[in-house]
Order: sequence, then structure tokens, then C-alpha cells
Amino acid sequence: MRTLRDGMRHQGLLQTAWRTLNVLYRMMLELDPSKRKARYGDLDYDLEHSVNTTRSNVALKTQLTAALAGHLYFATEPYLFEEIMRALPADLRDFTFVDLGSGKGRVLLMASDCPFRRIVGVEFLRELHESAAENIARYSNERQQCRNIESVCMDVRDFEFPPGPLVIYMFNALPEPVFAHVLDNLRRSVQANPRPLFICYRYLEFEDLLKECGWLTKADGTAHWAVYGNRVIWFDPKSHAASVIHLDSLKKA
Ligand SMILES: C[S@@+](CC[C@H](N)C(=O)[O-])C[C@H]1O[C@@H](n2cnc3c(N)ncnc32)[C@H](O)[C@@H]1O
Repeated sequence: MRTLRDGMRHQGLLQTAWRTLNVLYRMMLELDPSKRKARYGDLDYDLEHSVNTTRSNVALKTQLTAALAGHLYFATEPYLFEEIMRALPADLRDFTFVDLGSGKGRVLLMASDCPFRRIVGVEFLRELHESAAENIARYSNERQQCRNIESVCMDVRDFEFPPGPLVIYMFNALPEPVFAHVLDNLRRSVQANPRPLFICYRYLEFEDLLKECGWLTKADGTAHWAVYGNRVIWFDPKSHAASVIHLDSLKKA
């Protein structure tokens, strides 16, 4: 309800009704048996890691709620996630990774193969959040480098960003007004407590909102994803000199 109300305030009744009908139409198309793969998503990741991250067994009510809130539930493709991670700094030890709209947690598991300090998923649908918690407990991979992982069940608009450097991930999670709200929360958090921030945006539907943020710069991207970062002011504790850290200096060689 809150998403629909915000949608109407941000983009008007007609646009919100159109978006909602569009999503419901796509759900109906997927009832066609030939769309089985699209409906169930790719199962290879789940079979390889003995987890449950696709849409195959999500209750219809949960699927409908996700669709009405913005989009159908899908999990990120592993090869694209690896591409995106390669666009980030080599040293991630100080960074907290946050997946906004984390679903059943596949991205949290994949991120845990990187050396993040901490990993948090934010998901407002209880059924998906509970699956994510089970997946986190079940996941085991010799490549895993971070075991400090949690899924929290709440709306991303109410999430308070943790201190320290951040990598924020979003895949097709948020409709435009919610995305705008979250970007504003992020800007305020980084203004109040300046620190490095990267935003990984998979599926570029509302990339214009990122482009319009004067405090962000595009660091990398393809036709499927983009990584933006903030300009970080660094105070040298010895000389007390202030300098701007350029994103390129943080990127992998
Ligand atoms: C397309 S799925 C992506 C799942 C996961 N991030 C991945 O890439 O595998 C988007 C998820 O965002 C969630 N979502 C949408 N709006 C949300 C909101 N306002 N607060 C929290 N979660 C939200 C949906 O329930 C859905 O699980």
C-alpha cells in the first residue's frame, strides 16, 4: 500500500495504474508453459550450492505482492554479479555490502565469496526474508570469505545505513519513487558521515536518477549494470590536509 501511495504521489494515478497493470500482464504471460524457465529462473546456482534462491516455489500471494510493489522476484545471474564485483576496489575489507531488496538472498551468498567486512540484505517480504535466512545458514563454499551475513525484514526506506565504507547493490528492486527516497537517505547518511560509497545498479531502468545525483560519478558499466561512486573527501590525520579521492585510484589495476 505504501508503495502504491508513494507511486501515485510521485508519478500520478495514470502512470501508477499503467505500471501496475503492466506487471500483472507480465505475470499472466508467464502462466504459459513455454515460459517455464522465465517463471522459475535459473536453477543451476541452487543445484550447485544446495540452496533455494529462485522463484520456483514462492507462494503466489508473495509473488503478487512483490509484483505490485515494483517487479516480479528474480535472482541476479552469477556471471553478471562477478562482472559487477570486478568494477569495485580491490581491497573490500573495510566495506559493508548492502543488498536493497535482497529476496531469497542469492546476492548475499555470492557477495560472501568476496572479502567484505559485513553483508546485509534488506527485504520486506517475510517469506523471501525467511528463505534468505535459511540459505545463509545452509551456504557453504570453500571460496567463502565473509561469514558476517544477515537478512533483515523491513522496507528499504526505513533502513539506516551502517557506518563505514559501503557497497550498495540493487537489482530491479525499487520503483522510481522508492529509489528516489533511498538515494536521498543515502546522500544524507554520507553527508552526515563522509565515507566511500559505491552503488551497483543491475538493470538500468531508472539510471537517470543516479545520473541526476551531482554527488555521484559513474565509475563503470555495461548495457546491463552500472557502478556509481561518491567523491570522497579525505583528511590526512598527520597534515590535516583535505583531498578528494578519485574513484579510479580505488579501482583494481
Ligand atoms: C528482483 S528481486 C532481486 C533479489 C536480489 N537482490 C537478487 O538480485 O538476487 C527484488 C526484491 O526487492 C524486494 N523489494 C521491493 N521493494 C522493496 C522495499 N521497498 N523494501 C524492501 N524490499 C523490497 C522485492 O520483494 C524483491 O524480493
